[in-house]
Amino acid sequence: MKEKENILIVDDELGVRESFRMILQDKYNLFIHSEGEEALESVRKKRIDVALLDIRIPKMNGIELLQRIKKMDSDIQVVMVTGYATLDTAVEAMRLGAFDYLYKPFDPDKLEKVVREGIRRRKLGIKASGELKQLEIVKRDLNERLHKTHSSTVESLMAAVNAKDAYTSSHSEEVAKYTLFLVKELNLKLPPEEEEIFRYTCSLHDIGKIGVSERILRKKGKLNKKEWDEIRKHPEIGASILRPIKFLRKFNSMVLYHHERFDGKGYPEGRGNGEIPLWARILSVADSYHAMRSDRPYRPALDKERALAELKKGAGTQFDPEVVKAALKVFKEVEL
Ligand SMILES: [Fe+2]
Repeated sequence: MKEKENILIVDDELGVRESFRMILQDKYNLFIHSEGEEALESVRKKRIDVALLDIRIPKMNGIELLQRIKKMDSDIQVVMVTGYATLDTAVEAMRLGAFDYLYKPFDPDKLEKVVREGIRRRKLGIKASGELKQLEIVKRDLNERLHKTHSSTVESLMAAVNAKDAYTSSHSEEVAKYTLFLVKELNLKLPPEEEEIFRYTCSLHDIGKIGVSERILRKKGKLNKKEWDEIRKHPEIGASILRPIKFLRKFNSMVLYHHERFDGKGYPEGRGNGEIPLWARILSVADSYHAMRSDRPYRPALDKERALAELKKGAGTQFDPEVVKAALKVFKEVEL
């Protein structure tokens, strides 16, 4: 025999409770209460399918009871019942998850109809939440796979940079770290799903050096004009290497403009302050600071104090003064 559905009824009037009983008891298992706490006890113990809740019940009112029931099991289908209905309470109840509304005194046919609809929805709801869970698992799976694809793409690109110039590769990863310190200090918030892409792009900002001759990259002495011209192509080369990689497109301009200067005297386009994307202005400070703090073939590393003084000197000319302000604070504090 088909198992009967469980219906919860909460009403403080004995006469109304009896009407519910008479109309529904043959077809359903009824759990009838006059107040909220007892009703919640039934929800805790039984698998309730549909709840019929009077709005005006003592102690906990119907709206509060509706919320607590939905919190315990959001699939329970709730119908609000009242003799003092106002549109506002109805709207509020629907907003909080009730699916229908019944006026007292109610018509038995209408009551049965609304209970049947509740059961139908309960069945659909359970199915939907099952599908939802399935969907969530699929989504998580896809995200994990996507994450793996992303990180292996970045690893391959980093390996290519490393093969060309080990300094550029380790420098780039450090610059990513420095840039994130600045982003935090500047109170900028990246959406969580973009954080990783941002870090990847920072790590790959010098990828364009793949297109620059090793002789120039490793040269110990000063570079001549022609060599400088070649070096100065790396932001454009980098941006064009990364552009076809869809997931890295978001911060591509950071790669393209990381050698622009605040006063418009940088490269590749000589963009001024207002035209350089903020992310590129931040990366530029992190990049220069790390370069100053590193041993290079043509000079030894600068100590922290000197490097910070250089940043300060460049504020407003080479660098965005706001970013320098953040850098002076954060690079002084952390062990970099
Ligand atoms: Fe660069």
